[in-house]
Amino acid sequence: MRTRAAICHEEGTPWVTEEIEIDEPHAHEVQVQVAYAGLCHSDEHLRLGAMTAPPEVLAMLGLTSMFPAIGGHEGSGVVTAVGPEVAGVAVGDRVAVAFIPSCGTCYWCASGRQHLCDLGMYTLAGPMISDGTWRHHLGDVNLGRMTQLGTFSESMVVNEASLVKLAPDASLKAAALISCGISTGFGSVVDRAKARPGEVVVVVGCGGVGSGALQGARLAGARAIVAVDTVPFKVDQAKRIGATHGAASMEEALPLVAEITQGRMADVVVLTPGTLTGDLIAPALSLGSKDSRVVCTAVAPITQQEVQLNLFELAMYNKSLLGTVFGSASPRAQVPRLLALYQSGQLEIDELITKEYTLDQVQQGYDDMHAGRNVRGVVKLAGEA
Ligand SMILES: NC(=O)c1ccc[n+]([C@@H]2O[C@H](COP(=O)([O-])OP(=O)(O)OC[C@H]3O[C@@H](n4cnc5c(N)ncnc54)[C@H](O)[C@@H]3O)[C@@H](O)[C@H]2O)c1
Ligand SMILES: [Zn+2]
Ligand SMILES: [Zn+2]
Repeated sequence: MRTRAAICHEEGTPWVTEEIEIDEPHAHEVQVQVAYAGLCHSDEHLRLGAMTAPPEVLAMLGLTSMFPAIGGHEGSGVVTAVGPEVAGVAVGDRVAVAFIPSCGTCYWCASGRQHLCDLGMYTLAGPMISDGTWRHHLGDVNLGRMTQLGTFSESMVVNEASLVKLAPDASLKAAALISCGISTGFGSVVDRAKARPGEVVVVVGCGGVGSGALQGARLAGARAIVAVDTVPFKVDQAKRIGATHGAASMEEALPLVAEITQGRMADVVVLTPGTLTGDLIAPALSLGSKDSRVVCTAVAPITQQEVQLNLFELAMYNKSLLGTVFGSASPRAQVPRLLALYQSGQLEIDELITKEYTLDQVQQGYDDMHAGRNVRGVVKLAGEA
């Protein structure tokens, strides 16, 4: 069928909306009419080359480029068709996407860590997980899709492993933001750092992911939550969803955290700026107390190796430097859990959506993100269809 999707033709060129062709779903595949797609920073990492697989990895996948590719990996929608052997969802079901697929049977899924599912190895590959062929086309050219999804599209075909089934009354708008940014930030604090009541949490970078981290800290019972962002508007917004203090940089946060903790420093520091670079690690560790957990949530350029930090500090102060994908929780457990918190009024999502865009405005939305104008932009497709 014909549909419309926002595509990046080659690295560094803007998102443009094109008419494309999608095939019927094959075995284990599902066609979804997308309702909402969030503008997470990671799609820009794909477009601008930071998350683009190096040539040797592409060669292993039989590819020369990840482009052209459909963007979007935050999203929600309604199932409109299912291929053979689909067991988990049916036509009419509301679903959220998951940028790490969950097979349910590999070692990682079987041990309760679906965010580490072995199918994740396909997440940056272009063709379908099910049989290695392509379902999305622009004329004669096959289209890759951001993390096996491509939610910047009116309709998409995905593997059922990439979907989370939702309750029939679930808010599709909230589910879109929860499907990546909110879950990742929330889990960074709650599931990765395992924040406890009474602790002090610092969140560095208060965009969509940071907004999940701030609220994870609030719901975990943190006694002080310090929002750090270079953009004053983001710090103001952070205070509306739970931050108790704000700072414009980690350097500025240092004396503030020392004052709040009588010099003991923060229990948890979460790094959620737009891009992670090596120079951010040492100041983040400096904000942490003895036995602190510093969580690297933001994506660094794929080939980045350099980081300078005080290794002595790790051992003698018993500090942990942790990474996380999807906030270290299983998508099929975390997304419904956070939706329930939203529905009971304990998790703020609507407040985070600064602006809604049409499918033709994806690049405009990302330009606004880079300019610091949005906490989160959302592309409205079919809406609450
Ligand atoms: N680990 C994962 O599984 C995962 C999942 C989703 C997103 N991410 C990554 O998380 C990061 C955040 O994503 P997002 O969508 O919230 O981005 P965003 O652009 O919406 O927000 C980033 C925020 O960081 C602020 N910022 C930038 N540099 C800063 C600095 N040095 N100090 C303080 N604040 C700074 C910006 O002003 C902005 O408010 C990105 O790198 C994204 O790719 C990781
Ligand atoms: Zn994301
Ligand atoms: Zn698995």
